[in-house]
Amino acid sequence: MATPSAQWLCSSDNLSEGGLGVRFEVAGQAAFAIRYQGHVYAYLNQCRHIPVEMDYRDGDFFDLSKHYLICALHGATYQPDTGLCVRGPCRGSRLHSVKVEERDGQVYLVPPACNGENSQ
Ligand code: FES
Repeated sequence: MATPSAQWLCSSDNLSEGGLGVRFEVAGQAAFAIRYQGHVYAYLNQCRHIPVEMDYRDGDFFDLSKHYLICALHGATYQPDTGLCVRGPCRGSRLHSVKVEERDGQVYLVPPACNGENSQ
C-alpha cells in the first residue's frame, strides 16, 4: 500500500539496472535514486569524505563494473544497496539513505515525517 503523502520522483523506466540515476531534492538537499539488482535505492548526493555531490556527470553514480557507486572526486566506493563505503578515504561510513517506494511503474519519495526515520 502506498503512503498517501509520497511524492512522485520518476517513472520506473527512468531507472535502469546500473544505469544513470535520477537526481532530486529532499528538504533542500541534493539526492539521487538508482536501480540495483532490481530494487530502487536513494541517498543524499553527499560523499561521506567531503560533503560534495558525487556524480561524475549528472546522474552518473556507478563505477565501470556497475556494482558500486563511486565518488568522482577521490573515488570513495559505496555498495549500492546499503550505502556502505567499502573503499576509499571514508571506508566504513555510509551514505545517508532516503526512503523511496516503487509501485505501479512509478517511484515515489517517502517524506521523513512519514517513514519514522530521522535525517542522520
Ligand atoms: S569527496 Fe568523495 S572521495 Fe573525497
